[in-house]
Amino acid sequence: SVLEMEVEQIKKGNYDHFMQKEIHEQPHSLTTTMRGRLKDNSVVLGGLKDHLKTIRHSRRIIFIGCGTSYNAALAARPFLEELSGIPVTMELASDLLDRQGPIYREDTAVFVSQSGETADTLLALEYALGNGALCVGVTNTVGSTLARRTHCGVHINAGCEIGVASTKAYTSQIVVMAMMALAIGADKISTQARREAIINGLSDLPKKVAEVLKLDGEMRDLAKSLIDTQSLLVFGRGYNYATALEGALKVKEVALMHSEGLLAGEMKHGPLALVDETLPIIVIATHDACFSKQQSVIQQLHARKGRLIVMCSVGDATSVCPMGSCRVIEVPQVADCLQPVINIIPMQLLAYHLTVLRGYDVDQPRNLAKSVTTE
Ligand code: G6P
Repeated sequence: SVLEMEVEQIKKGNYDHFMQKEIHEQPHSLTTTMRGRLKDNSVVLGGLKDHLKTIRHSRRIIFIGCGTSYNAALAARPFLEELSGIPVTMELASDLLDRQGPIYREDTAVFVSQSGETADTLLALEYALGNGALCVGVTNTVGSTLARRTHCGVHINAGCEIGVASTKAYTSQIVVMAMMALAIGADKISTQARREAIINGLSDLPKKVAEVLKLDGEMRDLAKSLIDTQSLLVFGRGYNYATALEGALKVKEVALMHSEGLLAGEMKHGPLALVDETLPIIVIATHDACFSKQQSVIQQLHARKGRLIVMCSVGDATSVCPMGSCRVIEVPQVADCLQPVINIIPMQLLAYHLTVLRGYDVDQPRNLAKSVTTE
C-alpha cells in the first residue's frame, strides 16, 4: 500500500535502500555494540561472566552458524584461539546435523545468528544441548529462540537489520566475539599487553570505520568497471580468510554475480588454473603477519597476467603493486585481529553498487529470505 511504502521511506532516512543505510550506520552500530562493555583495560559481558570459568576449562570451542554468521565466527576463530589457548573448530549448522558430528559435555558450543531463528542453527542447538555441551548464543534478537534456549550469551545490539544481506550485524558479531575472546583470556598474564592493545583498537574502531566508508565513491567506480564481468574471485588468508568468503557472499547474494572467496594458501591447488587477463581477482593484503605471503601471491598472479585489485593498508600501495599495474584499495590499519571489521566494508560497498548498477533488488534479492526458518 501507499502508506506502507511511505513508512518504508521514512525508515530509510536519507538512503535509497536499507542495505545502504545499514552499511553507513556501522560507526554507530559498533559503538552501540561496545557500549558499557569496555571498562578501563577490561571487558565486561554480563551475559557471560558466570560461565567464564566453565568456558576456560572446556576442551574445545565449537562455532556453529549459517551464512554471514558463520563467516563472522570464522573471522573470530584466530583471535579466540590466540587469547584462549583452546582449540576452536567451525561448523556450518546443516553440515553438523548431516554428519551428527560428535559433541561432548567438555565442549563449549557458540551459536551465532543475527535473527536467532534460523532453523538449522536452532536444530544444531538442540543437538548440542542433548549432548551436554555448554551452549552460548551470539544474536541480535532479544527474546529470540536462540537467546531463550542457550545457557548464556551476548546480544550484539546492532539495531534492527532489514536488508536481506547482512552487513552491520556481521561487524557487530565480530566485535562481540572479540570481546568474548578478551573476557575468556582475561586470566592470562602472558597476553595482558596484547589484550590491552586490542581493547584500545576496539575503542578506536568506530572512527576507523567512518574513515573507510569514505571509499564509497571509489567502490562505485570499481563496481562500474566490473558491471559486466561473469565472475569475481576474492583471495584472503589468516585474519582475512573470512573477509574473502564474506565479501564473495555479499557479491553473489545481492549483485547476482558469481563470486568465490578463496584461501590464498590454496591458490596453487586449483584456483590458479582460472587466472587469465579477464577474470577480476581481489587480493586482501593488509598489513599483518601474512603480509609477505600475500605479496608473493600477488607476484604470482601478476606473472600470469591476472586482473588484480589489491586491498592494502594506507601507504602500502607501492609495496603491494610495484609496477602500478593493479588497482589498489587503501584501507586504514587497525589492530591485526580487528582488521576484518574494516576490510569487509569496501566489499559491502562494492556489492551494493554492483547491485544498483546491474539493476537488481538490493534489499530483497531473488530467492533469498532474511531468516530461513525451515530446514
Ligand atoms: C539467511 C540470510 C543471511 C544470513 C543467514 C543466517 O541466509 O539471508 O543473510 O546470514 O540466513 O542468518 P542468521 O539470522 O542465523 O544470522
